[in-house]
Amino acid sequence: MSTEQSQGPAIETMLLEQRRYQPDPAFVQQANAKAQIYQSDPDEFWTEEARRRVSWFQPFTQLKEWNAPFAKWYLGGRLNVCYNCIDRHVESGQGDKVAFHWEGEPADERVDITFADLQRRVVRFANGLKKLGVGKGTPVAIYMGMTPELPVAMLACTRLGAPHTVVFGGFSSDSLSSRMNDMGCEVLITQDEGWRRGKRVPLMQTSAEAMAASPGVRHAVVLRRTEAEVPMTEGRDVWWHDLCADVSDEPESCPCEPMDSEDVLFLMYTSGTTAKPKGIVHTTAGYLVGTATTHHYVFDIKPDTVYWCAADVGWITGHSYIVYGPLCNGTTSVLYEGTPDFPDKDRWWEIVERYRVSVLYTAPTAIRSHMKWGPEYARKHDLSSLKLLGSVGEPINPEAWVWYREHIGGDRTPVVDTWWQTETGMIMITPLPGVTTLKPGSATQPFPTVDAAVFSEKGEPVPPGGGGYLVLRQPWPAMLRGIHGDPERYQETYWSKYEGLYFVGDGARVDEEGDFWLLGRIDDVMNVAGHRISTIEVESALVDHQKVAEAAACGRNDPQTGQAVVAYVTLKGGQEGSPEMMQELRQHVARKIGKFAAPTNIVFTPELPKTRSGKIMRRLLRDVAEKRQLGDTTTLADPAVVEELSSRGRELAASEEA
Ligand code: PRX
Repeated sequence: MSTEQSQGPAIETMLLEQRRYQPDPAFVQQANAKAQIYQSDPDEFWTEEARRRVSWFQPFTQLKEWNAPFAKWYLGGRLNVCYNCIDRHVESGQGDKVAFHWEGEPADERVDITFADLQRRVVRFANGLKKLGVGKGTPVAIYMGMTPELPVAMLACTRLGAPHTVVFGGFSSDSLSSRMNDMGCEVLITQDEGWRRGKRVPLMQTSAEAMAASPGVRHAVVLRRTEAEVPMTEGRDVWWHDLCADVSDEPESCPCEPMDSEDVLFLMYTSGTTAKPKGIVHTTAGYLVGTATTHHYVFDIKPDTVYWCAADVGWITGHSYIVYGPLCNGTTSVLYEGTPDFPDKDRWWEIVERYRVSVLYTAPTAIRSHMKWGPEYARKHDLSSLKLLGSVGEPINPEAWVWYREHIGGDRTPVVDTWWQTETGMIMITPLPGVTTLKPGSATQPFPTVDAAVFSEKGEPVPPGGGGYLVLRQPWPAMLRGIHGDPERYQETYWSKYEGLYFVGDGARVDEEGDFWLLGRIDDVMNVAGHRISTIEVESALVDHQKVAEAAACGRNDPQTGQAVVAYVTLKGGQEGSPEMMQELRQHVARKIGKFAAPTNIVFTPELPKTRSGKIMRRLLRDVAEKRQLGDTTTLADPAVVEELSSRGRELAASEEA
């Protein structure tokens, strides 16, 4: 398997990692999940959960329909996601319960938003959107920071039955406009600026540039956040507060649109193995049931839980486990606008202490940052309210797992390492707290009813201990329904490797006890600090620069961000690289995709190693990048690298010929 080399350290880890954490009997006693849950009949389980967790305007008549690779769930059902996330909680007397403890990055900004407040805000904004012609089926883009108005905007769309696509605020204008064009968005919701690590993020400026390339966008609604002067185009752009100045916030003034179970809820764009991001389609009922159910069991949610998923709402984690799953369960959450180190490195722990957070869900890259800063920041605060910790986004190394449990969880809390994807919509492989014996570095078991397996190249299940490709053998409620506008690519990407099986794109191993160890991507997708970026996207952005003749990008292991992007660039006309050129190219990639995709290193080389058929040997480049552990300042063409590249290229070519 071509991935063996890059998986080496992960496999070693798995073999060496012997630590085990049995569930604490006191936790077991009160846990939502009981061991029998693994014996559930899949159809009964999902029928029952759908009735228990979701309110239906019209009950479904058929659980599922599976014409591989196309699934439908809860056929015949009608419901509204916003009704499930807000109105029914208010109607059942939970209006005064806090939905979000929101905290702005500037330290003195805090507001507690109850379910009743949230309802008023959503109704008012939905009424505003109606004035702009937004209704059932109108595609809407959302490009915002982590303000309370971000979930408000999403929920207002779902209330009206308008599918949304949230574009993470770190993306460039090109990325925003290509997504808006692909979805055919008519309205864009944004804000003047966002806050990030004390700096202003020019969201409206970027939006204006994006709209120039997206003529289908009729209106932009702009939230005032920092009061900055921003370019507003008369007749097209309208301030949020002006739009909502004269509309009602009475729920009856804007009833929740009854939607079919299979109506589109949202698109989330994600990187694949080509330069064009895929619009992953999620629909209403299955997604809501899947996220609410997994949220309940995996995070052991109780009526008084204070839950904090520290992801950005702009990614799938934020959709499923900040907005839709938790609100459907009527959970109190923390929503924090800024970064963990602003104004100081104990900001998160101050928040945990202030709100008595009981469940914290974050990414390994964040945990490793805290590790690097040292445990003294956590020690300054009372973290005794925490009873469960979660991890998501990339493989978590056992060292970080154990640090998280010891220094944040007081050596007391379970740590759930949850594996899933934009495409799966919900958590798929995870421990269940109170049931599962934990192993640092392992996501342990498929969620009840999920049928995951590891397959060989030839398409046979790999016996315990062996490595291979992760596949999913049965449909699940929150699964993607397709790629927007491209059924062939859907078929090709996920369903063509093995007939009738969902091909995940991750390498995995199952140990003798049946526990899963995720080994990272096996395709040309990189995972940088939890951001999914394809090598080809970066390459296209580089080649787009007028001085670049050719480029290849690859990921190398990075102790902090999981992977870092390394690019190899050949300049036009024999030009030489320089630190200034590297800076220019990094900025170019940031402009084309977003800052997070800018290569950490650029190696200038007169030639890229290629196979005889002209394909760039990415694996070789990866090896070189790994072996050399290029420092952040390697900028100039390094003759040793070039020599190594060409000599290893010659060796490989020779062995191919032989
Ligand atoms: O490679 C896996 C990795 O992240 C990929 C999915 O990325 P994305 O769609 O952006 O969603 C991230 C948040 C759900 C997967 O194919 N990944 C995610 N969680 C884990 C993981 N790898 C190992 N362990 C995990 N817990």
